[in-house]
Amino acid sequence: MAADQNKSDSSLPTEVDKSGMLEVLEKFPGQVAEAIDIGQSELQLPSAEGLRAVVVLGMGGSGISGDVVAALSADAGLKLPVVTCKGYDLPKFVDSDTLVFAVSYSGNTEETLDTAGQAMERGARIVAVSSGGRLTEITESNSIPTFHIPGGLQPRAALGYLAVPIMSALDRMGMVSGVVDRFRAACPMLEARLIEYGPGATGDDNGPFRLARELVDFVPIVYGAEGYLAVAASRWKAQFNEMAKVPAFHNYFPELNHNETVGWENLADVCRRCHVIALGEPALPARIEKRVKITIDLIQGSVGGVTRICARGSNTVERLLDLVYFGDFTSVYLALVTGQDPTPIARIDEFKKRMAG
Ligand code: PA5
Repeated sequence: MAADQNKSDSSLPTEVDKSGMLEVLEKFPGQVAEAIDIGQSELQLPSAEGLRAVVVLGMGGSGISGDVVAALSADAGLKLPVVTCKGYDLPKFVDSDTLVFAVSYSGNTEETLDTAGQAMERGARIVAVSSGGRLTEITESNSIPTFHIPGGLQPRAALGYLAVPIMSALDRMGMVSGVVDRFRAACPMLEARLIEYGPGATGDDNGPFRLARELVDFVPIVYGAEGYLAVAASRWKAQFNEMAKVPAFHNYFPELNHNETVGWENLADVCRRCHVIALGEPALPARIEKRVKITIDLIQGSVGGVTRICARGSNTVERLLDLVYFGDFTSVYLALVTGQDPTPIARIDEFKKRMAG
């Protein structure tokens, strides 16, 4: 299908969604509700006494749960630093006074298994989140508390299962407060967004569908702002990569004003193929709002398009979930209108196969 046709065509080629990602997305509000129950289960959690830091281990679709926890926990009163670990090296400070969440949807991710092993050797207080695999075997045989989450999804479609139990554990350990209630209160909001963003009505009122059609043939460049908006931007980027199989990049204000802003000055043909999406919220701090406006003014003549998306919701949990849901639908619609089945990730599968060989 030609790009111009894609942009004007308001029909959604759902037959491209062979593996049913839309249906999975439609169940996301229910997933968040179920994840609250999983988090509130009788699992015996470590003591919070004397803890000095929280570390979240995990890669890709599982690893973003750590970014979500880092962004939301400060707001919920956590006084300790939260460090995400996305690699083979466990930070040197991790010891018996560190709470470590080992998160792997499959339970078989090499880097996460490696760092979880290091955390065990150092006597860290570990809690795991997984649907099975080697991680669960290890945690079960070492009596490490584990949130068992349902399998059968792509990790990137399981963000509720992966992130909510961690927030719930922090809540039950007395380290944060109110955040579980906020997730619970966000479920009806997500149901309402499903009606707006979902495939039931793909007219111009459907923001994700409209944006997806704008993005055909462009590289999405997603800008957030320090805090949860930067996490949302990173989530959007990864979803564009994995759902729509396109290159995508992310950055955040104010940092991007100290480097990336200059980068739009040259390679005119490349810049014109990029569409900047700036994620914001109604209460964006005045200095950040000013930066966004000036930046757009400076770069909009160079890039192919600029779209501002404003998060909705009455608190950070709701606004982050709103943006995640908007971005998830946008990436899936972009996949469908460009003929890509959103679910398979052949390159990651092939990569992991070669690494194992
Ligand atoms: O989306 C994906 O499949 C990847 O980003 C995975 O999440 C990543 O490779 C880690 O695997 P897992 O989430 O099973 O630990």
